[in-house]
Formats: sequence, structure tokens, C-alpha cells
Amino acid sequence: MEPSESVQTEVKITYRHCRTHEDFLACQRIEREVWNDPELEVPITLYVVAVETGGQVIGAFDGERMVGFTYAVPGIHEGRIYLHSHQTGVLPEARNRGVGRGLKLFQRADALARGIDLVEWTFDPLELKNAYFNLMRLGAEVRRFVPNCYGVTGSPLHGGLPTDRLVAEWELRSERAERCLSEEPPVASIRADAVRIAVPKAIGKLKVSDPDAARAVQDRIREEFQKWFGKGYVVVAIETDGEESCYVLEPGDGGAKS
Ligand SMILES: CC(C)(COP(=O)(O)OP(=O)(O)OC[C@H]1O[C@@H](n2cnc3c(N)ncnc32)[C@H](O)[C@@H]1OP(=O)(O)O)[C@@H](O)C(=O)NCCC(=O)NCCS
Repeated sequence: MEPSESVQTEVKITYRHCRTHEDFLACQRIEREVWNDPELEVPITLYVVAVETGGQVIGAFDGERMVGFTYAVPGIHEGRIYLHSHQTGVLPEARNRGVGRGLKLFQRADALARGIDLVEWTFDPLELKNAYFNLMRLGAEVRRFVPNCYGVTGSPLHGGLPTDRLVAEWELRSERAERCLSEEPPVASIRADAVRIAVPKAIGKLKVSDPDAARAVQDRIREEFQKWFGKGYVVVAIETDGEESCYVLEPGDGGAKS
């Protein structure tokens, strides 16, 4: 796919780069609908900066109407150029139809066409749908945990909890990513020495009904992620079983000590 061209999916969504003020205003409208939080809002000037400095602003359109977008800035780690994807949002009524994945696939094609083969972003480990999307539908993996990444904010979205984040690393040419692109799970089988970190599926409701209990879950999983990442483990999948979802971690290439 030529990234400069627009593409259509079976649900008649068109994906293309955003370059005009009108496009950026549409991103901001989606931003307000998805996150509804002035404290977290990205100003239009930064969309312009992203486009001008090698980042990306990509929109998903149903006819003329933008229904989702993804926004990334260029980054550099030890000399390796990558994209840091700061926002991906789809309007609630357009979700679970493949629009989010379509945006990420367009992002991937554009990055590869420009010689960039890594995209990263952060996500809240308590947001299990995002975790599933990142790990199982895109083939990202996780080996880093950033405690209280953005500080404790006044945002109702953060519910007064520390903003703990996992870092999704999407190696665009990896076997995991290639498998997911072919609609296969990212790994053929889970290793016998894998470990699991469980999160109650009801964590979203718990944040509202019992913030102290939600905080206790957050504290427990922070400790577990830090322990296993410290031993060189990598999150390779998420499994759902009854009332819980489990992050599945395997020893990384560096070899793990138990
Ligand atoms: C994350 C987001 C961008 C995904 O967009 P989307 O258009 O719904 O994504 P897709 O339809 O391509 O894929 C979603 C997958 O999650 C699955 N899913 C939906 N609800 C789920 C749930 N509660 N638990 C687990 N998986 C779920 C869907 O079935 C789909 O998988 P499938 O293709 O195997 O059916 C969208 O949900 C969103 O805008 N969320 C709010 C903003 C956000 O959190 N953004 C990410 C962090 S910046």
C-alpha cells in the first residue's frame, strides 16, 4: 500500500493523512468526544508540529466524517528512530468494527515506507480492552513499566490514581506483528515457564464503586510487573478466563533468572 494514497476497508472506512486545519479540528472534535478532558487535550499546534517533524496524524473517515484518528510524534532511542503514538481514538459508535486496527495498519505502512520499523505508545495496564487490542490484534509486546508516568492528574479519566503505564513496543517487521496481520494470535503457543499477572475484569467498575480496592489492584500489579520485568520477562499475550484477564509474560531473549 502506498501510504500517501487513501485506502478503504470492507466497512467503507477511508484512511488518509490529515494535513489541513479542518482535519485537525476534526481530530480535536473526536478528542473531546473520546476523552472529554481539557487537561489532557492536545492543542492543534502540536498536530501541525507532528506532521512537520516526521510524525503522523492519520484519520479514519466514514464518507466525509472523521470517526477516528491516530497521532504520533517522532522519537529517538539510542540512535534508533521510531514513532511514539500518543493518541488513538475512535468514536464510541464506530468501535469494534476494525477502525482502530485500520488506523494502526495505515500507521504501520506509512512508517515502513519511511524506513521506520518501530512504533511505541503507553497504555494503562488496567484498561484490558486496550491491552487485548495492543497485544493480540497488533502484535505489540511489553517489557517496560513506567510508574505514575504522567503524575496524578485532576482528570476524571484517571480517577485520582497514579498514572501507571506499560509501554507497547510494536516492532513492525516482527514475526508477532506479521502473525497478527494475518489474523493469527501473536504466538503459536505459550511457553511452560510463562508467568501470569491477573487483573479483575471488573476493574473499570471498581475504579468508580471502590477506588481503594482499585488502588490495591493497581499496587499489586505494579509490584508484579516491576518484579518480572526486572528479571527480563516480556509480556507476550493476554488471556481471558472467567472473572479475570491475565497478562502472560515469558522470559525475554536475555534469559531470565527465577
Ligand atoms: C482502543 C480503540 C482505539 C480501539 O478502536 P476500535 O475501532 O474499537 O478497534 P478494533 O475494532 O479495530 O479492535 C478492537 C478489538 O477489541 C475487542 N474488544 C472489544 N471490547 C472488548 C473488551 N471489553 N475486552 C476485550 N476485547 C474487546 C474487539 O472485539 C476487537 O477485537 P476483534 O477484532 O478480535 O473483534 C477504541 O476502543 C478507543 O477509541 N478507545 C478509547 C480511547 C483509548 O483508550 N485509546 C487508546 C489509548 S490512547
